[in-house]
Amino acid sequence: MEKTLDELLCAAAMAGNSAMVRDLLLRGADPSFFDSEGKTPLMHAAAVGHGEVVRCLLDAGAPWNALSPSNVSAGDLAMENAHQEAFDVLLNFAIQAELVLGTIARGGGDGEGAASQEVYLSERVSFGEDRIVDAESKAVMMAWEKPLMEAHARAICCFGDVGGKILNVGFGMGLVDEAIQRYKPLEHTIVEAHPEVYDRMIQSGWGEKENVKIVFGKWQDVLPQLGSFDGIFFDTYGEYYDDMREFHQNLHRLLKPGGIYSYFNGFCGSNAFFHVVYCQLVALELENLGYSTQFIPLPVKECISEDIWKGLKHKYWQLDTYNLPVCQASLDSE
Ligand SMILES: C[S@@+](CC[C@H](N)C(=O)[O-])C[C@H]1O[C@@H](n2cnc3c(N)ncnc32)[C@H](O)[C@@H]1O
Repeated sequence: MEKTLDELLCAAAMAGNSAMVRDLLLRGADPSFFDSEGKTPLMHAAAVGHGEVVRCLLDAGAPWNALSPSNVSAGDLAMENAHQEAFDVLLNFAIQAELVLGTIARGGGDGEGAASQEVYLSERVSFGEDRIVDAESKAVMMAWEKPLMEAHARAICCFGDVGGKILNVGFGMGLVDEAIQRYKPLEHTIVEAHPEVYDRMIQSGWGEKENVKIVFGKWQDVLPQLGSFDGIFFDTYGEYYDDMREFHQNLHRLLKPGGIYSYFNGFCGSNAFFHVVYCQLVALELENLGYSTQFIPLPVKECISEDIWKGLKHKYWQLDTYNLPVCQASLDSE
């Protein structure tokens, strides 16, 4: 049977024949076509590392974020096969597209379309030994993150022997706060907006700790009463990427000169390439605000087994490495 223009486009993309790709596009071949394997021409070009063809397909409107039936994007294929040029082209294109459109992480930090903030805050949560779950059976926080929370605490509390002023936004299971306490901060402020999480904090004695100040409310509402800090950690739930962006706009008031900021880096935790896009995107936006970001890679494969997701609607993390962000004011902006 004769091949269609779209099938020919896939074949030309796979062969790295950019002249043929251009010609087929001019003749009306569809750059967003999925072949019988569920792959697009862009995926075929990326998998074999044809950077020029990748660029040409993107310029023609090929969707950079299309997923194959096994949830793999063109960027994942370039990454898996170590095709640096194709990967760089895809990454730069994706960052620019997300800066403008922000399509993949509009649904909250877990990239899975978290419930809207107002709904989450007004509904009940259930507390288990190893998790907090919202009314829609989505995990708000899970115990497997404990080593990550300890690493975040270490990153923001490295002020040596002199106790510093620390802010944590989002108490959850209190894992990061327990770790922060071990560094004996001079002042430790915790902002929490969910009434049941707040009640639990009070019941478990957090209100009686000498150096702890609990501020009940949404960070958006309580910001003016917070002051400034040596270390800040941000990890909320049910918010959108734009909310975190708004928090970042306030960093210059909240973070003291030389202070350290970190956030839970759960963006797009089920797709390795989308996750890289969001690491770079947040770092770029922070850089524009005068902060430089380093990512510390932490292996997490050992912390996660299939069992932990039982009864939950989403596996919000499926990658082997967690990239812990450490942000500081850039030297040239101090
Ligand atoms: C993922 S949990 C935090 C987990 C915490 N880092 C830990 O170590 O256990 C998110 C927390 O942020 C709270 N939260 C959600 N939106 C908030 C907001 N706008 N302001 C303050 N807290 C918020 C949630 O109620 C929840 O307790």
